[in-house]
Amino acid sequence: MLNPEVRLRKASMADVSYIETMEQTVFGKTFGKKMLTEEILYNPMAYYRVLEVDGRRVGYCSLWITIPHAEIVQIVLEPAYRGAGYGRLMMTALLALCTEHAVEAVTLEVRVSNTAAIGFYERLGFVRASVRKQYYDNGEDALLMLRQLAPSSEEGGTV
Ligand SMILES: CC(C)(COP(=O)(O)OP(=O)(O)OC[C@H]1O[C@@H](n2cnc3c(N)ncnc32)[C@H](O)[C@@H]1OP(=O)(O)O)[C@@H](O)C(=O)NCCC(=O)NCCS
Repeated sequence: MLNPEVRLRKASMADVSYIETMEQTVFGKTFGKKMLTEEILYNPMAYYRVLEVDGRRVGYCSLWITIPHAEIVQIVLEPAYRGAGYGRLMMTALLALCTEHAVEAVTLEVRVSNTAAIGFYERLGFVRASVRKQYYDNGEDALLMLRQLAPSSEEGGTV
């Protein structure tokens, strides 16, 4: 559809089941309802955002800010909405939140086999920092990626 209405908004209790289902579908495991609820409602360091296109949820992203550092927890789109700039939109919003909170360095962990996400993160300015051996349940290594933020950097609007 031309000019879809795109909205990135704060996640609420009403999004817990959606995020749980997306985690299960995309990653084969989930934090679960209880932890997601705690994250969204009570964790002051956690920032969960849901992306809506024409009023329909199509993805979400999450961030932990522990000044002066932050960690991208997840950034996920439904398959039909990938490759259209929505991932960049979400990451830009998360980085703007980091800048707002004077975060100096943002990290994330990604499976070494997830070459698509690694390519995406590199396009968004992350560099490969180190490898965490056998980090995941199945013994797979995690790639630790890093993006330094300049105090004056501008990353667009925040939500
Ligand atoms: C990772 C993900 C969020 C990226 O979102 P997306 O909407 O597909 O990415 P975008 O269309 O915004 O692309 C942004 C940039 O990354 C680049 N990019 C995207 N996928 C890429 C890939 N597989 N390889 C290399 N570069 C890639 C794009 O070319 C684009 O560059 P440009 O803006 O300079 O032209 C999405 O693919 C996804 O949900 N993947 C499954 C879940 C996942 O693995 N998440 C990461 C771990 S939590």
